[in-house]
Amino acid sequence: MSNMDRRTYLKSVGGTGVALTLAGCTSLTGDGGNADTITPGTASGFPPFEFVNDSGDLVGFDIDLLTEVVDRTDYELGEWEDLEFGQLITSLDNGNIDVIAAAMTINDERDQTIDFSDPYYDANQAVLVREDADFRPGSRDDLGDRPVGAQTGTTGEDEVDALVEDGIIAGGQKSTYGNYVLAVQDLVNGNVDAVIVDTPVAETFVSNRAVVTAFTIETGEQYGFGVPEGGEELQTALNDGLAEVQDDGTFQDLTEEWFASGE
Ligand code: ARG
Repeated sequence: MSNMDRRTYLKSVGGTGVALTLAGCTSLTGDGGNADTITPGTASGFPPFEFVNDSGDLVGFDIDLLTEVVDRTDYELGEWEDLEFGQLITSLDNGNIDVIAAAMTINDERDQTIDFSDPYYDANQAVLVREDADFRPGSRDDLGDRPVGAQTGTTGEDEVDALVEDGIIAGGQKSTYGNYVLAVQDLVNGNVDAVIVDTPVAETFVSNRAVVTAFTIETGEQYGFGVPEGGEELQTALNDGLAEVQDDGTFQDLTEEWFASGE
């Protein structure tokens, strides 16, 4: 909604800022063409959206999806930057990366700093607990006085903060991690009693770690690709590319590839 306002505004005042932004990432591609190369940023450790596989390669649904989307635009996709999730918005702001593909939830707070593509995936928050423990909370209140973890800078962390604000757990009972693989490891090790993480990623951890989903918090989140404020040209190109991969069946293929197998 605020995106729409901004788009209308940019149209009415002309695209000066946009042209400057794009000129900053223009490069010769070596394939004879002169295309804008955009550097994508992600934060691995979030399977199956983005993770480092056994061969050490950065792979996942977001990696393939953005590749397919950009293939359908006039842009070229550069080398991926694998950053901490909490650094992605700053890196976009200072131009180290040009687009975020990191299962990033579109929300008002982030929308004040960056712009988002159209949504491409829905999620809620899952509360993971140890499979072999007796602790089986059924609601937020049942987490009372338990240590709870999440990845730094995520909407999962927001849910842990809400537990603190609501007086359900103490501030000292909140643990944050550089990524969710570390958070789930700490849960398995017994250092926290619950981890709050996006539902599609929780399913992956449930299938390959000794954890189960105790209950779900309905947050109604939607993921979008992040682009710099005023990067309207790129935003439009990504939206068009996204619509194309959704219409031509590629999106469905990727969903089956990355979500049907459990990783
Ligand atoms: N969807 C959640 C958020 O936007 C978690 C995203 C974490 N992504 C990642 N690549 N680690 O906060």
